[in-house]
Amino acid sequence: MDSIIKTVAKQSVALFRNKYTNLAFSVLAAPALLGISNMALAKTVVVSSPEKQIVVELTDNNQGPQYRVLFQGQPVINDSKLGLVFQSLGEFGSKFTIEETQTSKVARKWQQPWGERQWVIDRHNGLSTKLSNGKYYFYVDIKAFDDGVGFRYRVPKQADLNQLNITQELTEFSIDQADKATAWWIPARGWNRYEYLYNKTPLTKIDRVHTPFTFKLDNGVHMSIHEAALVDYAAMTLDQRRDGILRADLTPWSDGLKVKTHAGFSTPWRTIQIANNATGLLNSDLILNLNEPNKLGDVTWVEPGKYVGIWWGMHLNENTWGSGDKHGATTDETKRYMDFAADNGFAGVLVEGWNIGWDGSWFHNGDVFSFTETYPDFDLPEIAAYGATKGVRLIGHHETSGSVTNYRKQMTDAYDMYQKYGVTQIKTGYVADGGDIKRVDADGIIRHEWHDGQFMVNEYLHSVTEAAKRQISINTHEPIKDTGLRRTYPNWISREGARGQEFNAWGTPPNNPSHTTTLAYTRMLAGPMDFTPGIFDLAPKGLDAVNRVQTTLTKQLALYVVLYSPIQMAADLPRNYAKHPDAFKFIQDVPTDWQQSIALAGEVGEYVVFARQERGGKSHGNDWYLGAITDDTARKIEIDLDFLEPNKRYEAQIYRDGDKANWRTKPYDYVIENQLVNHKDKLTLSLASSGGTAIRFKALNKR
Ligand code: NOJ
Ligand code: CA
Repeated sequence: MDSIIKTVAKQSVALFRNKYTNLAFSVLAAPALLGISNMALAKTVVVSSPEKQIVVELTDNNQGPQYRVLFQGQPVINDSKLGLVFQSLGEFGSKFTIEETQTSKVARKWQQPWGERQWVIDRHNGLSTKLSNGKYYFYVDIKAFDDGVGFRYRVPKQADLNQLNITQELTEFSIDQADKATAWWIPARGWNRYEYLYNKTPLTKIDRVHTPFTFKLDNGVHMSIHEAALVDYAAMTLDQRRDGILRADLTPWSDGLKVKTHAGFSTPWRTIQIANNATGLLNSDLILNLNEPNKLGDVTWVEPGKYVGIWWGMHLNENTWGSGDKHGATTDETKRYMDFAADNGFAGVLVEGWNIGWDGSWFHNGDVFSFTETYPDFDLPEIAAYGATKGVRLIGHHETSGSVTNYRKQMTDAYDMYQKYGVTQIKTGYVADGGDIKRVDADGIIRHEWHDGQFMVNEYLHSVTEAAKRQISINTHEPIKDTGLRRTYPNWISREGARGQEFNAWGTPPNNPSHTTTLAYTRMLAGPMDFTPGIFDLAPKGLDAVNRVQTTLTKQLALYVVLYSPIQMAADLPRNYAKHPDAFKFIQDVPTDWQQSIALAGEVGEYVVFARQERGGKSHGNDWYLGAITDDTARKIEIDLDFLEPNKRYEAQIYRDGDKANWRTKPYDYVIENQLVNHKDKLTLSLASSGGTAIRFKALNKR
């Protein structure tokens, strides 16, 4: 049952107070400049989080809105500008003053159909402030949680306001003592979209970066700036202006405008997650809480689960997507994979390269893709029927190579066809350089768009809502970044949006040992990622080859627990799993849907330990799993097992690095051992260089 406490009060700005520390909301007024008596008063309104961890002040400064944020009494964001610039009207913000405020107090929990946890707690205090220049008005809505802040602009319909083109967003984040802060970031507006290795630099050395943008202040406070509910708007990237002052930099349309909208819109929530330590960021539900509830109604047809696929062979060059001798997507090969999936408990088989259009350099010509015609050696009806007899689903695949108009034209037929054959999940792909998405307008003119501009934000969501009509879930590769929309559209089941496993096959350089230990604190704050873990043949071309997986084998296992996704691939070739059947057992056992998740320990880029409790499943929610991964540094981590249920005994099935293991020379040195444990025990995890530990805590019946 949802428990909801909500009070809403409307008040005009008339309350004058000097202290706000014990108040959830207050309004302050003070002369803008002391000593100038005829100066109008600058107004300041304040909202603090339920446990007073966070305080947000909004002031009109007598000339335009600014905000600042305090965490545990200390400023973390100093006075920062707010506002929007419209093509027709200029700056919306300058000369706008605070007119009215409305407060709300929310304490409730809501249920996820699938996720890192079944129940999400939403506790925050809200403050909506009306700002006006006498002619026009808009609102700044703020929600203060104990783990961070969300704020957005809301521009209602009003006289003389219709079409509005946004040329700039003026939102700033002025980081306190930025000169002493450390940041982890990937560049924005690059050709490789979000698929970059992370940089770790002093904050003042960043240029233009994507969000989630994670950084650490000198005093150990960890913060991450991102956005929630990115709908019909351009993505926010962050551009460093003066040192430590980051400005929202919206990804433009091909004509240079940032957002094309009309009065009656609100922006996505600008979010700042704040915690005392690195794991605090991982245990935050702020992004989900700032999204709208499920709009799809009954979504029991959205099914989490593990899958295998005709995929890695293409990345290794053993197979081809296109036709010919090495064509991967044949009827026989698909059946072989379906057998393997059925024998080993996998729900689905992904098949790439089944449709006409892959011959030649497919990434340069998406216009020739057909999404309804199969290659002659791929018999869709036969395969679908075979899968049904085996209880294994075929997972569909649509690579657009960025030719989205071509995809749009065929989308209805393509989704209808998949629905007819019982395909309930589709992986989509948008391989094209950043800024090179091909949009053919009604006038026939080709225009090139960014993957994270408003046009594509809408295009991705269109595919998700069209799929939902047919009870199909979407896993987007080369996506728009996640902003928590899975809450509203639970069939948006996963996405890529960072460097995944594929880079280990051909990336120059491949993913380094700190890549996944950084992803956990950056990309993963946005939501699930289809990273495709589980490579067992870590170095097909030899340990010294450039392209190899820079982890130990047990780190591959731990990734299933660390990098959350409701769908997880066992990405390697079946023959490689046959070489390590004992370690493969963990991949067979590990669930993809969780009752609860707890980040237990970690430091950004260095290591991370997650414990997650199975939701339902074979253990009826009784089993727990743990994943721990480290960067290049081998380390021992002591873990308290107090997350386990008291008075229960568990068999800890431990998959750990062997004593000689390290990713460079001995990645296959692993040990599997069992130990009886209960919630009072501690375990010391021993991780090799770029190693990992994966544990299943199997609940035992006897107490
Ligand atoms: C890039 C995707 O990330 C990868 O998984 C896929 O195999 C290729 N595109 C081809 O669609
Ligand atoms: Ca990719």
